[in-house]
Amino acid sequence: MKYPYLENKNILIGVSSGIAIYKAVDLVSKLRKMNLNLKVIMTKNAKNWVSDQIFSAVGNCDVYYSSFDVKGGWIPHTELSNWADLFIVAPATANIIAKISCGISNDLLTSTAIAFAKESKLIVPTMNVRMYENKALQRNLKILEADGWTIIEPEVGHLADGEIGKGRYPDNDRILEYAEYLLCKKDFLNKKVLISAGPTVEKIDPVRYITNRSSGKMGYELAREFACRGADVTLVSGPTNLTAPSLVKNFIPVESAIDMEKVMVTYSENSDIIIMSAAVGDFRIKNFSAQKLKKDDVLVLELEKNPDILKELGEKKRENQILIGFAAETQNHEEYAKKKLKEKKLDMIIVNDVSRKDIGFESDENEVIVYSYGEEYRLEKNHKRIIAALIIDYVYNKFC
Ligand code: C5P
Repeated sequence: MKYPYLENKNILIGVSSGIAIYKAVDLVSKLRKMNLNLKVIMTKNAKNWVSDQIFSAVGNCDVYYSSFDVKGGWIPHTELSNWADLFIVAPATANIIAKISCGISNDLLTSTAIAFAKESKLIVPTMNVRMYENKALQRNLKILEADGWTIIEPEVGHLADGEIGKGRYPDNDRILEYAEYLLCKKDFLNKKVLISAGPTVEKIDPVRYITNRSSGKMGYELAREFACRGADVTLVSGPTNLTAPSLVKNFIPVESAIDMEKVMVTYSENSDIIIMSAAVGDFRIKNFSAQKLKKDDVLVLELEKNPDILKELGEKKRENQILIGFAAETQNHEEYAKKKLKEKKLDMIIVNDVSRKDIGFESDENEVIVYSYGEEYRLEKNHKRIIAALIIDYVYNKFC
């Protein structure tokens, strides 16, 4: 995953003594691989689980735990809170949550929390389910929220003590998606964005199907970027191997083109911006077999045409709605793109050259040409997240 809004930022990780501390080591490792500026604060108890040397080695960074480690005029809690653009407390124990919510500052982590005056502060509660559900803990979380902390809810699942429930440390990518949200501009606030992604699947029988090649990565990156910039995103996705971006409010999985059509038409009514990046199958099976076909059956597949969802959305398009399509082409890009732009009543079309092996389809990178009426915008090869950000900048400048 790529996190452009974390680049060149100073990131301070506060670690308290949850057993999930080993996952915070992985968080630091991930951030180091991105070449970010890192520093870590550990509580005294956290050092009972893992050594500060681990964080220092994995993060290639300084690790602090004493408020009294004063060097000349360098006072740890005020210097660290000034230095950090982003403060992540992970894992956060019930104890550290209680202390921060009451304003207690009796060690370096809590003193830094009190001195940190920016909005970009995240806390990741991680503990046993009964501790998490405890009324005092819940009350403290509400206080933290009111004080401007962004709280990442723990996941439900197996806990370190063998119980099952809410309290698990979340995926680190989820934490970083929230971190980015706190640092990026919000130019699509209050905009409703509808995006389709991935392939569609047309069943032949209960175990077989025909589909199109599509990883869904481009559509998911567009959804991630729009959500990061404040949009209210609905992502309608055919089957992919991807995890829905954490900030996407509404994720709707679908299978066939007909399923996708129903959902897209319903949600389009309320959407300001619609992007069809799905690789919709042009045909479906006419003679679907409810029973599994036998190998020696004489097999003739009869196909019928699927609806062109994008065209239908173009017909229904209301004033001020922005409709964007994709086109996968192997030749005559400009001619085909301009034809589709007009025929499907689009505002913009994005062309992928699918004859190239180094971009498009399963690749993390893409290179596209954007066509709108009278304008052509070429985007050089780049990570799909960056391509998404540039496409969205273009949409903002042109239509918003
Ligand atoms: O006409 P063509 O299939 O090349 O157009 C591609 C665009 O149309 C894409 O945005 C794709 O999501 C959309 N499409 C659609 N319904 C189809 C086929 C394609 O909405 N049945």
